Amino acid sequence: MASAHQIGILRGVETTFPEALVPHLNEEYDGVAAGYVSLDSVQAEGTPEYDVILDRISHEVPFYRSYLKWAALKGTYVVNNPFWWSADDKFIDNVIAERADVAVPRSAILPHKEHPPNTSDETFRNLDYPINWDGVFEYIGFPAFLKPYDGGGWRGVTKVDNRGEFFAAYDQSGVDCMMLQEAIEYDEYYRCYGIGRTHARIMRYNPAVPMHERYSAVPDEPIPEERREKLTRDVLAICRALGYDMNTVEFAVRDDTPYAIDFMNPAPDADYHSVGHANFEWVVRVTAEMLVEKAKAEQQELPEHAPALLGANYKRIEAAEEEQNDAS
Ligand SMILES: Nc1ncnc2c1ncn2[C@@H]1O[C@H](COP(=O)(O)OP(=O)(O)O)[C@@H](O)[C@H]1O
Ligand SMILES: [Mg+2]
Repeated sequence: MASAHQIGILRGVETTFPEALVPHLNEEYDGVAAGYVSLDSVQAEGTPEYDVILDRISHEVPFYRSYLKWAALKGTYVVNNPFWWSADDKFIDNVIAERADVAVPRSAILPHKEHPPNTSDETFRNLDYPINWDGVFEYIGFPAFLKPYDGGGWRGVTKVDNRGEFFAAYDQSGVDCMMLQEAIEYDEYYRCYGIGRTHARIMRYNPAVPMHERYSAVPDEPIPEERREKLTRDVLAICRALGYDMNTVEFAVRDDTPYAIDFMNPAPDADYHSVGHANFEWVVRVTAEMLVEKAKAEQQELPEHAPALLGANYKRIEAAEEEQNDAS
């Protein structure tokens, strides 16, 4: 018998999701063996032992990220692509989403409030002073959201209703790179899983209540079919354009148009206690299907250099655009 395809889960503090996924993979699928990745130092000339790794934590541990890039270069399929995950930010992801025909809030990226460490005034000779704040406010309008271009978990996110509130928040942003974004005053809000760039789960979500109630303190009417179809289309278009195999996409719906708010969540929350029973069962089952499919797929010819892998992502964007054009 051929040896089993190895699936490794690289996890951090989370418990319920990986602890459901590993036994599910081992019990439900033949020909695969799933477990937690374990490693110490990594030697450049070595060989990774996994066909697929699901990465849930490298955004917090640079050593893990480097290991994953190394594994990806050596033939492991890593979910999500560690090169792209290292490269993108919320500002450029907005531009990419718009190209994939998804509505997004107007956004502007801003110069840092404080100079990053080890820089001097000369480092900023490219910047015009004073900053044309009037131009920014005219373009974005109020209310607006100020947020870091690489944030997560609501870190540093502030709603600002006027110039005074903007400057109070911006002055606190330190060396973070901040984005100002038009606030979408919404009638409905959704948070959606996109898995394998083919499966979407549309979930009502209430960002205004405490974390553990966000998926439950929502209207209990069914989601109208037309809305569901549009959201599904947008979720998959975003995940394909960004090359993310696992993501969550948040939407605020204004005047019947869903605007994508937050879609750079490559290790999206999948905790049983926050997403609830039905969503949890779905995400465990569909993630497992995707991992097994990747593990059993023919190994692709891998480019020799990291930039070539990034290039592969850009190719995907082009492909997604072509799909769009073909469809329209
Ligand atoms: N442009 C916006 N319009 C309306 N609400 C927003 C906007 N940006 C952020 N929010 C609100 O702030 C929350 C946190 O912002 P988000 O961009 O999701 O940051 P994070 O990645 O830290 O979760 C969102 O869930 C949403 O409720
Ligand atoms: Mg968010």
